[in-house]
Amino acid sequence: MPVNILFSARPALWPVYEPLLTKYLTEAGLDFRLSTELEPDQVDYVVYAPNGGLLDFTPYTRLRAVLSLWAGVEKIADNDTLTVPLARMVDHGLTQGMTEWVVGHVLRYHLGMDQHITVQDGVWTPDAPPLATERRVCILGLGALGEAAARALAALNFDVTGWSRSAKDIPGVTCLHGEDGLRTALSQAEIVVLLLPDTPATTNTLNAETLALLPKGAHIINPGRGPLIDDDALLEALNSGRVGHATLDVFRVEPLPEDHPYWAHPNVTVTPHIASETRPVTAAQVICENIRRGEEGEPFLHLVDRDLGY
Ligand SMILES: NC(=O)c1ccc[n+]([C@@H]2O[C@H](COP(=O)([O-])OP(=O)(O)OC[C@H]3O[C@@H](n4cnc5c(N)ncnc54)[C@H](OP(=O)(O)O)[C@@H]3O)[C@@H](O)[C@H]2O)c1
Repeated sequence: MPVNILFSARPALWPVYEPLLTKYLTEAGLDFRLSTELEPDQVDYVVYAPNGGLLDFTPYTRLRAVLSLWAGVEKIADNDTLTVPLARMVDHGLTQGMTEWVVGHVLRYHLGMDQHITVQDGVWTPDAPPLATERRVCILGLGALGEAAARALAALNFDVTGWSRSAKDIPGVTCLHGEDGLRTALSQAEIVVLLLPDTPATTNTLNAETLALLPKGAHIINPGRGPLIDDDALLEALNSGRVGHATLDVFRVEPLPEDHPYWAHPNVTVTPHIASETRPVTAAQVICENIRRGEEGEPFLHLVDRDLGY
């Protein structure tokens, strides 16, 4: 009997993923039916993105697993109708893209690029930037994306500290965890990068109290999720100079409303949730490998802990 796979994501992705999933499922030797329309009680696996609109998994009575195309699973992790394993996306292409974006924006701050790109006033000020060894960067979240960014920055000789929920050991990176770890990490950070998931425990990780720990003029880069930052507290910290500049890719409401103060703030760069994205060629391989595992009774990769929410 074929394995029935429902593709539930925004329609524009179907022509992109259909040939790729077909190729890799065939290469895995699976007998399968892949469609955007299957009777719920026939579906074995759902390839899922929130913009596919699937909310109620109750009728999916023989479902084996839901395989997310997104790394962030906050829109589905607390769905009570989902009672089977949920895998999030860990994709080389997505990780590489995020590493490039983070390194680029860290270098922008580190080298003070804006000074020379945006200010051409005829004034010759020959102040060379410090070396990366003298620049302290803090990465909040040391998962698939945070660890890769931390390793890349450490390879460029930045002084990198990372913070996570559980203890970690990453060569070249000072790894901290727990509440005290966060305080230590922030109190030394000249550039803070947020790569935490959006969960009840991470909401407002940067708030008035934690922002006050930062060295004056620190820079913030948020490619994680909007709710990680208390927006009012950040605006206050920007206005007081506690935070020198923020580059924000993700927001509580997306698209960021036109009248949001971030757009007009002179010390904020808004990017439209483009830090990285799932790359179909590599992501399709991850999805197919998980279906193969499910069919051969092997453990799924990248399972979400539904209690923790990531
Ligand atoms: N802007 C974009 O384009 C874009 C693209 C992709 C993803 N993202 C965002 O990036 C996030 C991270 O992705 P990922 O694949 O790296 O996730 P991940 O592998 O699940 O890693 C999450 C990291 O956060 C840590 N963490 C979770 N809860 C914590 C807490 N309460 N206190 C301290 N640390 C905590 C985890 O600690 P442990 O290691 O101890 O578990 C882990 O190190 C996603 O959830 C998504 O929101 C954004």
